[in-house]
Amino acid sequence: MKSLVHLILFSILLSVAISQCEELNSERKNNNEKEAKDFLRVYNEKILKLWNDQDIVDWNYRTNVTKENSDANIAAGLVLSQFIAAAFEIASQFDTTNFSTDTTRQLIKVGRKSLSDEEMKNLTSIISQMGQIYGEGKVCRNSSTGEEECLRLGALFDILSDSRNISELLWAWEGWRMNVGRKIKPLYFQYVDLKNKLARVNGQKDYGEVMRQAYETPSLETDIRNLYEEMKPLYMELHAYVRRKLYDTYGPDAVDINGTIPQHLTGHMWGRFWTNLYSIAVPFPKRPSLDMTEALNAQNYTVRRMFEKADEFYQSMGLLPLPPTFYNLSMFERPPDRQVMCHPVASDFHDGKDFRVRLCISVEYINFLTVHHELGHIQYYMQYANQPGVYR
Ligand SMILES: *[C@@H]1O[C@H](CO)[C@@H](O)[C@H](O)[C@H]1NC(C)=O
Ligand SMILES: *[C@@H]1O[C@H](CO)[C@@H](O)[C@H](O)[C@H]1NC(C)=O
Ligand SMILES: *[C@@H]1O[C@H](CO)[C@@H](O)[C@H](O)[C@H]1NC(C)=O
Ligand SMILES: *[C@@H]1O[C@H](CO)[C@@H](O)[C@H](O)[C@H]1NC(C)=O
Ligand SMILES: *[C@@H]1O[C@H](CO)[C@@H](O)[C@H](O)[C@H]1NC(C)=O
Ligand SMILES: *[C@@H]1O[C@H](CO)[C@@H](O)[C@H](O)[C@H]1NC(C)=O
Ligand SMILES: *[C@@H]1O[C@H](CO)[C@@H](O)[C@H](O)[C@H]1NC(C)=O
Ligand SMILES: *[C@@H]1O[C@H](CO)[C@@H](O)[C@H](O)[C@H]1NC(C)=O
Repeated sequence: MKSLVHLILFSILLSVAISQCEELNSERKNNNEKEAKDFLRVYNEKILKLWNDQDIVDWNYRTNVTKENSDANIAAGLVLSQFIAAAFEIASQFDTTNFSTDTTRQLIKVGRKSLSDEEMKNLTSIISQMGQIYGEGKVCRNSSTGEEECLRLGALFDILSDSRNISELLWAWEGWRMNVGRKIKPLYFQYVDLKNKLARVNGQKDYGEVMRQAYETPSLETDIRNLYEEMKPLYMELHAYVRRKLYDTYGPDAVDINGTIPQHLTGHMWGRFWTNLYSIAVPFPKRPSLDMTEALNAQNYTVRRMFEKADEFYQSMGLLPLPPTFYNLSMFERPPDRQVMCHPVASDFHDGKDFRVRLCISVEYINFLTVHHELGHIQYYMQYANQPGVYR
């Protein structure tokens, strides 16, 4: 693996070697824009290939969680970070003062200083371990017959959306946090430390600043704050309305009519979507049902058909169709024969043609929303497929 990196780097180094030699005795940086553009052309080509290599092993790992696949994923991550670190060294030798905006913007995005190999390996392994704990997570209880029954995230999600039994809701919600959240917590602290360290090595305050910088919008925080303030009056009313409906359903012991809404009563494991409170919160119950899950089932929808329908939706707006390989290579449902990670993800394989989603869903309204959401990512990947690597 390492020799591969050196081979790739060699071709890049070659293109800037001459200018570097000329400047051995000088602090002066390279101000030749043509050389910068040559470097960027090679870099953009190589980084896509390395990303693609990483995308493939990452996919293999997440759709088939084994030690072997995890090791391959970690190794590819390391190759990538070494390459980026070396490319960064080259990119930072240019003085961009008189370069075009585009060249300067691309150079900034080339790479970042890396931590030591040991720390980068540690970081990749921490991320992989957190994913594994999440993927393998389950919560157990003794059923009425005394038999132990263990539920995975999907089944716990179902309880959160379907059950109206407070003790069961709390059991599922709290169980996940006790069993999975607590195990991930120490790793997450290490993750944050390393990510912040990586940011500081690159002259930034912390990882939050790195994430915000991706938007290239200095007013980002104010913009979001303003949007929030604009939404707040509506949100306050919606919140009060739903809280009242929950109060009427679960009573004063469960819901403080003047307080916050307990997350396990929101109908969603992360309290994120309140769609599943429809039956509780429906304002005009005597009107015909708008329950899409019923409609989907009545029309014999399959998961694949939900994707085809969403694909049609994007195409109806003049956007791009999904490639046929999308349906062949994506993972729509949990395979029976192996450990996988089911958290919904849309993947760009960085080769301009391979785009996939990975999730484990059934035919339900909320999943129909997820399908549209994920295809929004895929649409974006397809639309920027002809941009240079740095801009993807
Ligand atoms: C899962 O990965 C292992 C290697 O760790 C491999 O032997 C096996 O064939 C893979 N299974 C599937 C279904 O791809
Ligand atoms: C940028 O261009 C100006 C004007 O031509 C020149 O004086 C200056 O030295 C150039 N700076 C660099 C870093 O090339
Ligand atoms: C990462 O490094 C820390 C500190 O050296 C160590 O305690 C931890 O076990 C390592 N974690 C992994 C997942 O390698
Ligand atoms: C289930 O019952 C067994 C035996 O009574 C007990 O040891 C175990 O702790 C119980 N498990 C749970 C999750 O309550
Ligand atoms: C609610 O769930 C708990 C725990 O699963 C169970 O013991 C209880 O019987 C349930 N209550 C009702 C009314 O179904
Ligand atoms: C909720 O707040 C209102 C207005 O402040 C107050 O009149 C009411 O007593 C409070 N109710 C509860 C249950 O605390
Ligand atoms: C759905 O499947 C059932 C059972 O196979 C069939 O009777 C019904 O006509 C189908 N409905 C639609 C809309 O295709
Ligand atoms: C997808 O799979 C189908 C059936 O397995 C096959 O006929 C088709 O050629 C495959 N398409 C692509 C693009 O791989």
